[in-house]
Amino acid sequence: MAAPRLYQYNVSIMQCKTGEIVVRKVEKEDAGWKAHFAAFYSDCGVKKLGRKAHAYFAAYCGEELAGHSVVYLEKGRWILDGLRVSPEYREMGIAKRLTEARIRHAVGLGAKEIWYPCDDGNLVTICCHLRYGFEKVCAPGEPHCTVATAHWYRLEVTPALFEKFPVLKP
Ligand SMILES: CC(C)(COP(=O)(O)OP(=O)(O)OC[C@H]1O[C@@H](n2cnc3c(N)ncnc32)[C@H](O)[C@@H]1OP(=O)(O)O)[C@@H](O)C(=O)NCCC(=O)NCCS
Repeated sequence: MAAPRLYQYNVSIMQCKTGEIVVRKVEKEDAGWKAHFAAFYSDCGVKKLGRKAHAYFAAYCGEELAGHSVVYLEKGRWILDGLRVSPEYREMGIAKRLTEARIRHAVGLGAKEIWYPCDDGNLVTICCHLRYGFEKVCAPGEPHCTVATAHWYRLEVTPALFEKFPVLKP
């Protein structure tokens, strides 16, 4: 039997009850993944991405979904969304790894900026976005927006970013 393909984003984090926690890109949005996805986000609305370019990144302990997130392209902007880690797997670095993987993915596809909508609550923002240098901004075309009312954060992709966080370089 052929050896399983190793994806560029496979990152082992630590041991868990059935092996290792691995962060990887979701390569197949098949029925099995859809069922996991629906259960994982059952108590909060998730946006349908339709035909937008996107990539899901997940953390697994064996077959179990420990964390999940998405990066998608909308109107020329790469946007991070849907970051969630199961309560029993929190504070192990999973959200950080999912964010780094998504930023790498978008940068690898040419992103010069990465965006994040801030309606997920402060913890998500504090844990996983501000640390990389995301700044609160008004989105293009938002009427009457001020920094106080803005609902977006933006990260500019610069050489300095890679110097500070080499892990973000694709
Ligand atoms: C916010 C969330 C994604 C963090 O996931 P996580 O895997 O525990 O985060 P990490 O372990 O990668 O932690 C990243 C950083 O945030 C900090 N952090 C994480 N949880 C924290 C908490 N509860 N309080 C304070 N700091 C916290 C960590 O210490 C770490 O910082 P450090 O590297 O400086 O030590 C997770 O708590 C979560 O999923 N919350 C619910 C979000 C949700 O349901 N949103 C709705 C989506 S539909």
